[in-house]
Amino acid sequence: MVDSPKSSSSNYKEVKLGSTNIFTSLPCLISIDQENYFLVQNQSGRYSLLSDVCPHMWGTIIIRDDCFLCPDHGWRFDLSKGICINGPRSQMYNIDVINRNGILFAQFQYQ
Ligand code: FES
Repeated sequence: MVDSPKSSSSNYKEVKLGSTNIFTSLPCLISIDQENYFLVQNQSGRYSLLSDVCPHMWGTIIIRDDCFLCPDHGWRFDLSKGICINGPRSQMYNIDVINRNGILFAQFQYQ
């Protein structure tokens, strides 16, 4: 679904996701390097990827009704930024996505 990653340094990787036209329904599940992410767009139009790995104890997050849900212990996260809405201060791990002339690129930063 996505193009091969392009590396410019050992701690940065940019991945082409594709045209905004193909992402007609968000959140949209995307696989990159055998990891799953939800492509989301916040109220100001900014895109990002949210990991489906729960920040609590690494459960697998799904979409349920009007939010993200980790079935393991019931934490819920909002659909635009992945902020926990029913538990401790926490947030789904997120990756910046930039829009270059209608093409989306995920920007992975490694420490
Ligand atoms: S592992 Fe997700 S809520 Fe506990």
